[in-house]
Amino acid sequence: MTPDLDLRPDPSDLSADEARDQARTLQSELRRHSHLYYVEARPQISDEAYDELFRRLQALEEEWPELATPDSPTRRVGTEPQDAFENRDHLAPMLSLDSTQEPDEVRRFDERVRKALGEDRDPTYLLEPKLDGASIELVYEDGVFVRAVTRGNGRTGEDVTANLRTIPSLPLRLRTETRAAPAVVAFRGEVMMYISAFEAFNARLAEEGREPYASPRNSAAGSIRQLDPSVTASRELDVLVFDVLHVEGASFASDTDGLEAIRQWGLKVPERVETATDPEEILAYHAGFEVERDELDYEIDGVVVKLDDLAVRQEMGSTAHHPRWALAYKFEPRKEVTRIERIGIQVGRTGVLTPVAFLRPVVVGGVTISRASLHNREELVRKDIREGDRVRIQRAGDVIPQVVEVVEQEADREDPYRMPTHCPACGTEVYEEGPRTICPNRFGCPAQLKGRVQHYGSRSALDIEGLGEETAALLVDRDLVTRLAELYTLTPDDLIHLEGFAEMSATALVQAVQDTRTPELERFLVALGIPEVGVTVARDLARHFGSLGALREASAEALAEVHGVGPIMSEKITAFLGEKRNAVAIDAILEQGVVPTEQEPVDTSDAVEEAGVAVFTGALPVSRTEAQDLWESVGGRATSSVSGNTDFVVAGENAGSKLEKAQELGVPVLDWDDFVAEVESRGGSVLEEG
Ligand code: IVH
Repeated sequence: MTPDLDLRPDPSDLSADEARDQARTLQSELRRHSHLYYVEARPQISDEAYDELFRRLQALEEEWPELATPDSPTRRVGTEPQDAFENRDHLAPMLSLDSTQEPDEVRRFDERVRKALGEDRDPTYLLEPKLDGASIELVYEDGVFVRAVTRGNGRTGEDVTANLRTIPSLPLRLRTETRAAPAVVAFRGEVMMYISAFEAFNARLAEEGREPYASPRNSAAGSIRQLDPSVTASRELDVLVFDVLHVEGASFASDTDGLEAIRQWGLKVPERVETATDPEEILAYHAGFEVERDELDYEIDGVVVKLDDLAVRQEMGSTAHHPRWALAYKFEPRKEVTRIERIGIQVGRTGVLTPVAFLRPVVVGGVTISRASLHNREELVRKDIREGDRVRIQRAGDVIPQVVEVVEQEADREDPYRMPTHCPACGTEVYEEGPRTICPNRFGCPAQLKGRVQHYGSRSALDIEGLGEETAALLVDRDLVTRLAELYTLTPDDLIHLEGFAEMSATALVQAVQDTRTPELERFLVALGIPEVGVTVARDLARHFGSLGALREASAEALAEVHGVGPIMSEKITAFLGEKRNAVAIDAILEQGVVPTEQEPVDTSDAVEEAGVAVFTGALPVSRTEAQDLWESVGGRATSSVSGNTDFVVAGENAGSKLEKAQELGVPVLDWDDFVAEVESRGGSVLEEG
């Protein structure tokens, strides 16, 4: 219970010592109660009593600002909106998990683990739900929360510290009653939005005419990438932590011990973590959760199986992508049956005609579905999907719902659906390219322009609030926008008389457009709708070239060097940027005073990013130089010392300090055979010596 505190005297009547003591007591009490409330869900005091303590602390800190340390409970929200997120390296690579849906794969995984353990030992597995949220690294120094970084490309992510601070279940200081805080510790966890909160939030977005999020995961990821932390604070997020990614100044006997430490330090861990010793128990755990998942208020998409023994984990090591000692055993995507009421055509911003099934609305895994893409002409024929059919639809994660199959056919079915010969939006004759049907009227088709306008303001592009599908269509239909640049010349008077607009909403939309005049370069690249350039490629292009000007001048060869961009993609990008009318359209936007941000270019050439940085140590079957050459032949890089930037260490017999350093830093350790497999998987070949 709360120790007795005399809260009566006015803060300014206290001595500095009294104020400090009282502030410390209040901070630790508030921390304890917020842990009881948000992490353990067993509050001991009323909300009113909590608020009273909180206000008292605020008053003290106002009087003595030096008492408001960064880990004070009053310091969750309060920083100013940022202009952009900074990139940050992770303390250890955030690998993905190898995944399967096949029980036999789980049995084979168990066999591989048993082989690594040796004959006389049985494995213990830790079983956890696979949380479907946004992956995050959380760093604490001397027990104080200092940094949160999104997963990004696994090695570098975005610094979203200010946003994570607003999540009430995240301790700003580790609890140290049972276990001391290490000098440095990085955790890996998942930011979650509860399904109930997600639905309420989406309903509110829809009411306000804004674009709803596709899934709780999407919504969680979007919420932690807000430049204004007060927006994140309003989103009802939680963060669950399941892994120690990196630690200095502490060690763990096993993963179970690590998880116990996470719990003791006051972080929230997943529910229903169990252990197993044979694959059949893993299958049973999976089957149990597959049923139970519908009763949970958060999304899980499978279970994660991890070997508990940390020393054997080190021996088994990792590929560049995933550890060999863990497996994600995923659920089948959720499916429901409903009826196709009508098939229609959508013309996208690139001119592709997509057949769409308008469905009798059905709830699939907590989300109401009323439309599903039928992809293209060939898919329609192959699955023989017709109007009026009863169909099975599925939704996997945040992926667009799909029609899996026709389940029942009426005796007198409708005739097969036929793709139109002319674009339903502009009447131009369409052409076929492979399975796709395309309207060639790139600069004159109103549907394509609507798509481009909507895309320009969409969430992953310039995120213009109020510029959704309907508004984009309205602006084009009323000739208010005949090219993207004209968005910037809109005035409230232009909009005020349109359906669904009033003075406030008209002013707000114009303001929202004006607010995009200094866009982040990567978002601006997404907004332009360059073929093949989605969020990830845009990010890499922005990092590599640093400015729009440099990208526009780049040759196809220079583009092909960028991480994740191959020769085909680079041709498409240069063709787009080189096309006269596109260049004019981009210039017109810039002439409106739009200035995308610039940054120092960073070399992201495929080689380094993809294959990774290796360190060789100990006695290997070939010389050190030969091993390094081999790795460089498949685009990797080799260095001689182990650091946080090392992707893996190849250790032979009698490896010494470098191996120790790798183990200390949690860098994966490969033996020679693993390394050979890694080289071969990248198309390299290793000649037998001798
Ligand atoms: S363990 C190297 N455990 O699933 C493996 N991951 O591709 C360390 N995830 O985005 C991760 N629930 O963040 C682990 N109980 C769990 C998890 C989990 C969700 C996420 C992870 C990553 C993805 C794996």
